[in-house]
Amino acid sequence: MFQLRCTVRDCQQLLEQHERELVCSAGHHFDQAKQGYWNLLQPQDKKSKNPGDSEDAVLARHRWLQRGHAVSLIETLRPWLATSDTPMGPRTLDLGCGEGSFGPALFPDDAQSYCGIDLSKRAIKLAVRRWPDATWVLANADRVLPAADESVHRVISLFGRRPISEIHRVLVPGGICVVAVPGEEDLIELRQEVQQAGHRRSRWELIAEEMSQAGLEVLDQKQWHATVNLQPDAIADALAMTYRAVRHSQKSRLAAVHAMNVTLAADLLLLRR
Ligand SMILES: C[S@@+](CC[C@H](N)C(=O)[O-])C[C@H]1O[C@@H](n2cnc3c(N)ncnc32)[C@H](O)[C@@H]1O
Ligand SMILES: [Zn+2]
Repeated sequence: MFQLRCTVRDCQQLLEQHERELVCSAGHHFDQAKQGYWNLLQPQDKKSKNPGDSEDAVLARHRWLQRGHAVSLIETLRPWLATSDTPMGPRTLDLGCGEGSFGPALFPDDAQSYCGIDLSKRAIKLAVRRWPDATWVLANADRVLPAADESVHRVISLFGRRPISEIHRVLVPGGICVVAVPGEEDLIELRQEVQQAGHRRSRWELIAEEMSQAGLEVLDQKQWHATVNLQPDAIADALAMTYRAVRHSQKSRLAAVHAMNVTLAADLLLLRR
């Protein structure tokens, strides 16, 4: 399995697996959940009783990905993850992995060296069911990451978390980081419909600047676009996974819409430590 590090404050010892338990040399231990994931969440790292994306958002994202809406995004990302002139080893950390579709799609032969982290128990349970041989961890990626210094070859953050100094700490020198954030045009038609405005905003430039200031050099940037025809159930899922609370009045405006063409867009960054 992926080499994990103890998350007890200031401990930093590596964890060793003994059957269904992870133990560090200071005697801290973590039981494996019966579903197969590891709960490394410390009480002080929980933001609420049910931290991470809501159950509704996780399930909406799950149905959305099952409809195949990320297939061409995965194809767009693949060249960055397959070939690189960095000292590539297999160890991959996925921050905010969600329901776990991207790991097996991008790294099908590397289950033993892949680790997905998410703060939502519902998401991690879906992920472990899909790809049981990988390492799935319930943890807060905005705190200290459960990996040793300079031990990870690739960090991916697909619409997930970006704890920049921690990403820098865990990456081996020359290791890469791949980031995806929603593009300016993402779901623009839906946003226009519900907000009657549809703000366009581009986030990637700011992220690229912050990350390069922290020692992660931007090697490449790409945009991904697709147009999909969405039926009402898919429109509802797109909203549920994107907006925490779409107001009732906004929802009823969409109830009148039968099907519509919608733009999907993401800005993609390839960085190197
Ligand atoms: C938009 S989803 C993206 C999930 C997945 N990468 C995908 O593209 O399908 C963001 C994910 O980040 C998780 N998340 C939110 N805050 C987090 C945190 N502090 N630590 C770890 N995961 C977090 C959410 O539970 C959710 O699954
Ligand atoms: Zn420990």
